[in-house]
Amino acid sequence: MSQPRNKSKANSKNNKSSPTENPVKPTNGAGLGANNQKLDDLAPNVEDSAGEFLSTNQGIRVNDNQNSLKAGDRGPTLIEDFIFREKMTHFDHERIPERVVHARGTAAHGYFQVYESMAEYTRAHFLQDPSLQTPVFVRFSTVVGSRGSTDLARDVRGFAVKFYTQEGNYDLVGNNMPVFFIQDATKFPDLIHAAKPEPHNEMPQAGTAHDTFWDFISLMPESMHMIMWAMSDRAIPRSLRMMEGFGVHTFRFINARGKARFVKFHWKPLLGLHQVVWDEAQKISGKDPDFHRRDLWEAIEDGDFPEWELGVQIVEEKDEHSFPFDLLDATKIIPEELVPVRRIGRLTLNRNVENFFAETEQVAFHTGNIVPGIDFTNDPLLQGRLFSYLDTQLLRLGGPNFHEIPINRPVTPVHNNQRDGFMRQTINRGQTSYDPNSLRGGCPFQAGMDMSGFVSYAEKIDAQKVRQRSASFFDHFSQATLFYRSQSQAEQNHIVRALRFELGKVGTPPIRERMLGLLAQVDTDLANRVATGLGLNVPKKLEKPMNMSVPADADPRKFQPKRNGEELEPSPALRMVDNPNFPLKSIKTRKIAFLVADGFNEASVMDMKMALMKAGAKAMTVAPRLGVLTGAGDETLNADFSFSTGASVLFDAVYVPDGQASVSALQAGPEAVDFLREAYQHCKTIAAHGVGVQLLENAGLGESMADAGLIAARDGDARTLSENFIIGIARHRHWEREVML
Ligand code: HEM
Repeated sequence: MSQPRNKSKANSKNNKSSPTENPVKPTNGAGLGANNQKLDDLAPNVEDSAGEFLSTNQGIRVNDNQNSLKAGDRGPTLIEDFIFREKMTHFDHERIPERVVHARGTAAHGYFQVYESMAEYTRAHFLQDPSLQTPVFVRFSTVVGSRGSTDLARDVRGFAVKFYTQEGNYDLVGNNMPVFFIQDATKFPDLIHAAKPEPHNEMPQAGTAHDTFWDFISLMPESMHMIMWAMSDRAIPRSLRMMEGFGVHTFRFINARGKARFVKFHWKPLLGLHQVVWDEAQKISGKDPDFHRRDLWEAIEDGDFPEWELGVQIVEEKDEHSFPFDLLDATKIIPEELVPVRRIGRLTLNRNVENFFAETEQVAFHTGNIVPGIDFTNDPLLQGRLFSYLDTQLLRLGGPNFHEIPINRPVTPVHNNQRDGFMRQTINRGQTSYDPNSLRGGCPFQAGMDMSGFVSYAEKIDAQKVRQRSASFFDHFSQATLFYRSQSQAEQNHIVRALRFELGKVGTPPIRERMLGLLAQVDTDLANRVATGLGLNVPKKLEKPMNMSVPADADPRKFQPKRNGEELEPSPALRMVDNPNFPLKSIKTRKIAFLVADGFNEASVMDMKMALMKAGAKAMTVAPRLGVLTGAGDETLNADFSFSTGASVLFDAVYVPDGQASVSALQAGPEAVDFLREAYQHCKTIAAHGVGVQLLENAGLGESMADAGLIAARDGDARTLSENFIIGIARHRHWEREVML
């Protein structure tokens, strides 16, 4: 293994700071998608044992890795055995604490490229030049579960992006939902304590369907907008590649002339927005708890690189107070109908990690990592985050030098007077470690603004020091109502079901009732439907909900939520089904199960497979057994899955090809029929060809059923069949099948 990059940098004469040298080197980004500067930076740290001898950490070659050193072949092990002791000691110390939140995650490398210069709005170097590809590392996560928990928990997904820019690291640490549960960071430990497994019995894992979470939420009406998102299908994405991302807070863009504007960040997935069904999510959690992680990994390995466009909503400073909500309130969105999202660049993930621990686990994102041209606002949630990330990482990564861990270090040089601490890698040359100094000619120098020196935005503040929340934060319901009423019928049904599930798991009746009281203020129909499922009535007299997060001796009436009068028009941009921002109906990378057995009809399999592959989907065979299958004309096919390794919940659609012997074999056991029934129940597209139609009928899914997602061609025309199948899959799901009680 070569030495870390910082060491050679420290020894390089050319690397000295100089007051006349701009650290932003002109970079021609051409080809960086393949030749990524951060990957080059990581390369010297990559170890590869192919063709090498086994050694100790001191580089001594090991002759026997099977036996410890003993006094006689049946004797006690000797303490002298430095090889055994080193190996065991290292193993004993392998674990580090998992993240206190967002512990379960997966990540990949890639790059970001702006479409056109954003110089009018920001001086951030990575947003100037459309030919520049900025390396990124992106980590997706769930929030509540521990590191080994399921990917398919109903939860918010983290969407954290580290840009390795020419001006240092910029982290956009976002989520897949644009709002948050609380308005002030001081409530974060309470929120997380309520959501995590309950402290007395450590149950349940990775879920909010329990008393403490809903107890807290029922007393925090400010969470109601986020609760709508968290109970919606956004919380059970089909794929990490098919979800939006949001910076949540309002940030600032500042241009070279010092003009500031407010900005909200969005990530728009090019594969569209898609979800799974809650029943499906729970089954996937058993069949493949790594479902999302595997999906991302395989897509990148297959060259199907996931892409998102970076969107911005920009608000002039003079318009700060022109909305019926406060831009500093993280429980509010700016509806896209009020301020459109401009798409300014593209993020592509094109390389998996070499090593999960070294990269995904050790990466440290921090909202405080910003570059010149971007700045914070006074959002009280953001302000608290600015403290929390560095603080937690000092513990999680074992000291103050985690910025030197390869995945965390910037691609720009680091020179300062910070020294020492556990595991220091950098060998700082010279006598001085203070500023100002004369012994080293004043180095390292401060950088002027024209040298990419960071200058905080000079916001005017003239205020009293108070523990208060602005009254402009008190409308907790208008946007919750907006979200609910903007959903398609199917998605509203899913929110009702999710709330019935979650509150149904709450054992304390007054908590359920309090929640119904809050839901009634979002939408009475919603509250009534949830109440029906719980066998309760919505309380007749709705108590005015009160945030419990008020000072002990305050007048509670002053803290009561209110509506700011106007009803906001439904926003189609908030739904997943038929969202106008994602008009492209593609089946790219979708996984289609072919149910086959020996005796399948080769043409029926191959024609459909070719058509699907042409449309970018992946055809996979599921058979009664693994191994080689033989077709009616003696051609062979490998079974990718057997019924015990491949379940319907792992696929987007199902096809039953023609072939009498194949269909008879599938009919011999219950698995194929169960597979089809379950796919139907989860509203997936199902197609059958020739005798394959019999299997559909056996599953009770006959040709006579009027269902756009059931496509049967008994007599042959495979071409029309595949065309209709592709149209059906592109609809994602056929929600009209769902029965809502
Ligand atoms: C006051 C509110 C919040 C606090 C105090 C807080 C604190 C934390 C902490 C301590 C971590 C673990 C970091 C680590 O160990 O490296 C974390 C992770 C994370 N937080 Fe927050 N958080 C807050 C709100 C939010 C919000 C509003 C978002 C989304 C905009 C968010 C997104 C994330 C993400 C994506 C991660 C995982 C980063 C990764 O992949 O390593 N957090 N947060």
